[in-house]
Amino acid sequence: MPKASDVKEIRLKDLDEQKFIERQVRAIRGKVGEGVAINALSGGVDSSVVTMLGHRALGDRLRTVFIENGIMREGEPRLVVQAFKKLGVEVELIDAKKEFFSALKGLTDPEEKREAITQTFYKRVFGRIVRESKAKYLLQGTNFTDVEETVAGIKRQHNILAQLGIDTRKEFGYLVIEPIIELRKTGVRRVGRALGLPKDIFDRPPFPGPALAARVIGEVTPERIATVRKATAILDEELAGAKAFQWLAILHEDRVTGLRSGKRDFGMQIEVRCWNSTDAVTATPTRLGFDRLTRLADRMTSEVPGVVSVTYNLAKKPPSTIEAV
Ligand code: XMP
Repeated sequence: MPKASDVKEIRLKDLDEQKFIERQVRAIRGKVGEGVAINALSGGVDSSVVTMLGHRALGDRLRTVFIENGIMREGEPRLVVQAFKKLGVEVELIDAKKEFFSALKGLTDPEEKREAITQTFYKRVFGRIVRESKAKYLLQGTNFTDVEETVAGIKRQHNILAQLGIDTRKEFGYLVIEPIIELRKTGVRRVGRALGLPKDIFDRPPFPGPALAARVIGEVTPERIATVRKATAILDEELAGAKAFQWLAILHEDRVTGLRSGKRDFGMQIEVRCWNSTDAVTATPTRLGFDRLTRLADRMTSEVPGVVSVTYNLAKKPPSTIEAV
């Protein structure tokens, strides 16, 4: 990643989406020439915009992979691949579920879980694919806020090649291309719309990189992910169209006594959070109506096996954070 002083932000008032797209397409073609490039698509707005720019520039000479890590939302890998197919872009789905779950086995500390996911993604899975592909050009969705946060020490240094385990002194010739580095999120969304991405991609609510693993307190296992995934799907259905910044379901580690079919059921607890915010720096809980909340509780306790308790969080950020892990 370049230094912040080397990158000039394009402010919204100065952003002409079509000109931006033309300039980036030309720049990507200029750098890659007749070569082959690769990128990883997560379905988030940044990697989606980069995928579209790259395919406009290179067509089939850009290989796009979607790494299925096993911790995404219900149907997500398939939906993303299908959305891009409709746009004429073939995305390769790589099943890496086993590698991610084995890296997460036994971990309960939030930072250790994040680190395991990052390392598995870059070093084990994507790093291997990049090396085997022989592509020397990597398209990466770094945006202007990432540059700032790296400089401020909030994010780790986004040196993607180092993260991939590629030693550029030994393995010479790799080039990272960062087409959206001058834009903040709102600008990226506008370019996404201009590129013809569907609204549910260019306008996607924020979702953390560690995906549903950020919503499981304690060990992340396939079974615990299945529980939080089902609760998330119910929440997404019930809150579709709600005016909120972000909502999430969290699976707690502690169990509580419940009663099912007349028998004691030492069951699981789901905590629901729904936030009003503009920038995720501060946030307040959305005033969801009681009818909606009880419907959520009814559905989660009847449709998600083993759940006996559903709570709604009322604390503000700060001191709370948006995610629980
Ligand atoms: P917090 O929990 O810090 O969240 O109040 C602020 C915003 O950042 C998202 N978030 C993450 N995004 N990796 C990400 O890519 C993470 O580890 C992570 N943790 C939080 C969160 O969803 C919210 O929008």
